[in-house]
Amino acid sequence: MPGVGPCPADIMIVGEAPGFNEDRQGEPFVGAAGKLLDTLLSRIGLSRSDVYITNVLKCRPPMNRDPMPNEAESCSPYLKRQQELVQPKVVLILGRHALERLMPGQGSISRVHGTLVQRGGVAYVPLYHPAAALHNGALVADLEHDFDRVKAYLEALLAPPTPTPVPVAPPKQEAEQLRLL
Ligand code: URA
Repeated sequence: MPGVGPCPADIMIVGEAPGFNEDRQGEPFVGAAGKLLDTLLSRIGLSRSDVYITNVLKCRPPMNRDPMPNEAESCSPYLKRQQELVQPKVVLILGRHALERLMPGQGSISRVHGTLVQRGGVAYVPLYHPAAALHNGALVADLEHDFDRVKAYLEALLAPPTPTPVPVAPPKQEAEQLRLL
């Protein structure tokens, strides 16, 4: 399950690995965690079709267990190539496995969630994984708060540059009249 979304895209979302439903349907985040992700995206005025969504692992780990380091390593060239092709300006990192892969040594997700780290011209924002919030309801408020911060980051990072006013010379006839005054 490689990923879905527009290419190129300003925003890329990286989760952990496809689950049972994702593996069957060939689309990321279609289960309960995906519903929560959709709600969080719509909270900040985005929909799934606005973003490119993928995972660290491209296949579902057996028994839905956590990804192993060698599995993440094997899938890493695909993720790197996806990022080269999608050319996102902002990458939302969902959960500790994606954090470890994309920003190794950055610290625990509970410490860095909601912060913005600029690397190589790309802004990375680690966030709790929506599935973690489904297990621990207390994290839902953190996720909502962090998505509100994401909205502010996006407004600052993706805002069209303000055009510098170009002085316009008055039309010739007007210029003549001005001289006569
Ligand atoms: N969890 C993930 O990390 N990715 C998916 O695609 C679905 C659930």
